[in-house]
Amino acid sequence: MSKKLFIKTYGCQMNVYDSARMADVMAPHGYVPAATADDADIIILNTCHIREKAAEKVYSELGRMRQIKESRLDNGDDVLIAVAGCVAQAEGEEIQARAPFVDMVFGPQTYHQLPGMVARATQGERVVAMDLPVEEKFDLLPDATGAQGPTAFLTVQEGCDKFCAFCVVPYTRGAEYSRPVAQILAEAHRLVEAGAREITLLGQNVNAYRGATADGGSWGLGRLVQALAQIDGLARLRYTTSHPLDMDDDLIAAHRDVQTLMPYLHLPVQSGADRNLAAMNRRHTADDYRRIVERLRAARPDLALSSDFIVGFPGETDADFEATLQLVRDIGYAQAYSFKYSARPGTPAADATHQVPERVMSDRLGELQKLLNAQQVQFNQAMLNRTIPILLEKPGRHPGQLVGRSPWLQAVHVHAAGYGIGDIVDVQIDGVQPNSLSASLTADDRRDAAA
Ligand code: SAH
Ligand code: SF4
Ligand code: F3S
Repeated sequence: MSKKLFIKTYGCQMNVYDSARMADVMAPHGYVPAATADDADIIILNTCHIREKAAEKVYSELGRMRQIKESRLDNGDDVLIAVAGCVAQAEGEEIQARAPFVDMVFGPQTYHQLPGMVARATQGERVVAMDLPVEEKFDLLPDATGAQGPTAFLTVQEGCDKFCAFCVVPYTRGAEYSRPVAQILAEAHRLVEAGAREITLLGQNVNAYRGATADGGSWGLGRLVQALAQIDGLARLRYTTSHPLDMDDDLIAAHRDVQTLMPYLHLPVQSGADRNLAAMNRRHTADDYRRIVERLRAARPDLALSSDFIVGFPGETDADFEATLQLVRDIGYAQAYSFKYSARPGTPAADATHQVPERVMSDRLGELQKLLNAQQVQFNQAMLNRTIPILLEKPGRHPGQLVGRSPWLQAVHVHAAGYGIGDIVDVQIDGVQPNSLSASLTADDRRDAAA
């Protein structure tokens, strides 16, 4: 009889990819996905440690999981509760000290061992597993089962060697590792055969990719993108997340030469103040970043940018914050994420003496978000009356309506009679809402029922 696996995913897209792979590894052991936690046989929380709030969410969720476990035990039944992901890697056994009903704690590099860990936990053992080399995971996981729709994620690189002073990722994900080229090409082919039209290449530091080739050489991300673009049926490629320092000539050239590579790039800068950037160990200046963006836009004039920002990094002054606003005005973003600095245990910045007061952080975040929102509105407004290709991804809320994505990742609502999910269709933008666009088919594309 099949058993049920419920996975709740927090954090970045790498966790989304990992959760799918955990489901893949359990499938041959009779586990099917559960829609809710209530009747699952295993509940896995795939967690994120990036900011304090993210990590604390896990403990409030575990409170709910405990209730589920207790009511199941009352009925003479049981459920295994597991904490995976970056909080598991960072806190390990501490999790079971705080939440003793947790049966398994395991880090991001152990997922290929999941069936064995489940077997041990079923026997009553408390499982704690961490700290294995990344290579082993990718070599030993079964082939990904394939796309769940027209868009898919594909992890090509994992881990980070950059050690930004605020960030836990180098500690939770370990050293940089790039999957071999052949493994990635094979996975991409499988995804496309299963229906993916768009693939997003993932890595904590995806443009630091340097994967081994069969002939003993190695490829960077630019070369990999060129090769993936040759796959028949693959219409769109994206990659995330990049570090400005690893934006090399090949990758910039790929933005010029590869039409499948979408003109949208998430390129986090964190701050526009050189003093902050140095203290963050980002190893580039604000002007370096401006120059990289200039080169990218010269290669691909319609490239739109997105970024991450941290306000209130220790020692940030009013003048530093003003420099960040100035950088935002200079670049002009289509979209961006911004966060208050959160001191993370074990990172160098956590011990800094000049922590910025909470109220100052809130004010700065408000001001930055006002500017970024205005830029996003402006970017979206500029789409009005333009004809753009969208990839239809899912049904909309109204009958006959579909939701697609523009090349710039905007959600676009359209009534596209005659078209289905996975089609790419030219639409004319006729409405702009805060978080989405609406559109109608162009005369050329109309495929009415009668046609
Ligand atoms: N690898 C990516 C991002 C990883 S984390 C990069 O190099 O940019 C995603 C974002 O979370 C970061 O870009 C940063 O803006 C934010 N972040 C990371 N650590 C943080 C912290 N301690 N406090 C607040 N925001 C943080
Ligand atoms: Fe964290 Fe910096 Fe690595 Fe990005 S590059 S994951 S922010 S340490
Ligand atoms: Fe969070 Fe780990 Fe991703 S800390 S952002 S889930 S790499």
